[in-house]
Amino acid sequence: MEINADETSSRGDQDLEKILVTGGQRLDGEVRVSGSKNSALALMAASLCAEGVTTLENVPNIGDIHVMIEMMSKMGCATRWSGEHRLEVEVDTSNLDLKSHSAELVELVQKMRASFTILGPLLARLGEAQVALPGGCAIGTRSVDFHIKGLQAMGAEVYVEHGFVIAKTEKLKGAHIFLDFPSVGATNHLLSTAVLAEGKTIIENAAQEPEISDLARFLSSMGAKIKGAGTHRIEVEGVKRLKPVRHAVIPDRIEAATYAIAGAMTGGNVLVKNVVADHLLPVILKLRESGARVEVEGPTLRLVDNARTTPPLSALRVSMEGRARAVNLTAAPHPGFPTDTHPVFAAMLAVAEGTSVITETVYDRRFRYCSELQRMGANTRVSGQTAVIDGVDRLTGAQVSAPDLRGGAALVLAGLIAQGETEITQLQYIDRGYEAFVQKLLNMGANIERFDTAAILARPALSFA
Ligand code: EPZ
Repeated sequence: MEINADETSSRGDQDLEKILVTGGQRLDGEVRVSGSKNSALALMAASLCAEGVTTLENVPNIGDIHVMIEMMSKMGCATRWSGEHRLEVEVDTSNLDLKSHSAELVELVQKMRASFTILGPLLARLGEAQVALPGGCAIGTRSVDFHIKGLQAMGAEVYVEHGFVIAKTEKLKGAHIFLDFPSVGATNHLLSTAVLAEGKTIIENAAQEPEISDLARFLSSMGAKIKGAGTHRIEVEGVKRLKPVRHAVIPDRIEAATYAIAGAMTGGNVLVKNVVADHLLPVILKLRESGARVEVEGPTLRLVDNARTTPPLSALRVSMEGRARAVNLTAAPHPGFPTDTHPVFAAMLAVAEGTSVITETVYDRRFRYCSELQRMGANTRVSGQTAVIDGVDRLTGAQVSAPDLRGGAALVLAGLIAQGETEITQLQYIDRGYEAFVQKLLNMGANIERFDTAAILARPALSFA
């Protein structure tokens, strides 16, 4: 199929950017995992709990962080990179202004729902706050009713008006909160609010993801009194004031899993550095079940309390001899298999020996990547929250489009093992959560290239055999 550069010039720039992968190269060498996107976003929101300059180390340089920086800057929080991965957030309450840029703030919250969790800390500090109601996204409806119910339980008046969630309170009081689902965002949000509420708050059925423990460690170092983070029951004793601190963000366990799976599925031998092994146990054990060799080089966390002590760093040595075996996966809240890793694991299962069944219990629309994998020859059948994948002997390169962040990563990984060339577009999704994705894969021997708009317009016609 011929694609002439001038045919593409009429499309939006996003359509033009593409990754071209030629399959067949095994990955060898090492990769360093960046800081956790999902932790860094929660920490940035929680930095609003303290007056002054909070310094976050090991912050990944990715799209979602840039959106959060833009959001906080528009609200009057000066943010600056004082090192390649060191971000300073300066909170000066006298400068906080939630109303002047409401139109842009709406657009930013719609882009990145995690920014919604600034509402509680602002409410605790100012007595009133408003944030645009986040929309659904590519992987599901993703409402915020648990967040709102929790703030109301702490005594806030919270209502939706003109697309904004408006919250007011004389004084937040501790409450006994039950989450209908162990929501990561709601747990982060309510924890970051309860620390400044008067009295005791208990969050039942709390999310137990490692990012919650990282947030608890951050808040505790600011002076908060928290027990039970990382378990299903978190107790908080509110305090009057918190102080800004310096904190290192934990490694991104989803990024780590992506490279571990990429090493295994290409039959390579990779060292995934700067990980917390304990955060990856479900993925390590599933990879071993599928026939990969995964060795942990360094300490595992079981030795320390995740919410009190900075977890020790390790590395994963991952390799695979022969073809992966089919396995069944149930994506569930931590300590279950992480939902964000299921799409990239599916890319490996697409060519595994046998039939795999993936059950998704967190989101209602996370299988959109399957139709793109089918264009590469995968044999997948999706019904509701379940996908059945019959492993095929090989995938073939095709033009595919990233449906969301982790689905996009899955398509790149599928391209690594497909016969011929795969072209992936809609890269803005991948850029949200993977720092230097192409470069890190290139460094391990992948035959991969990224074309930005200018490069494509300047390039001769691309041809796909
Ligand atoms: C966080 O999203 C992560 N994002 C997601 O990672 C991750 O998939 C998810 O947790 C689950 O682990 C960030 O941390 C920025 P939830 P979050 O609240 O907090 C429903 C990635 O790829 N729900 O645990 O939004 C919701 O609709 C991203 O890095 C309500 O119904 O997830 C969803 O179905 C994708 N009402 C389920 O709960 C609420 O008030 C889990 O959502 C809140 C959530």
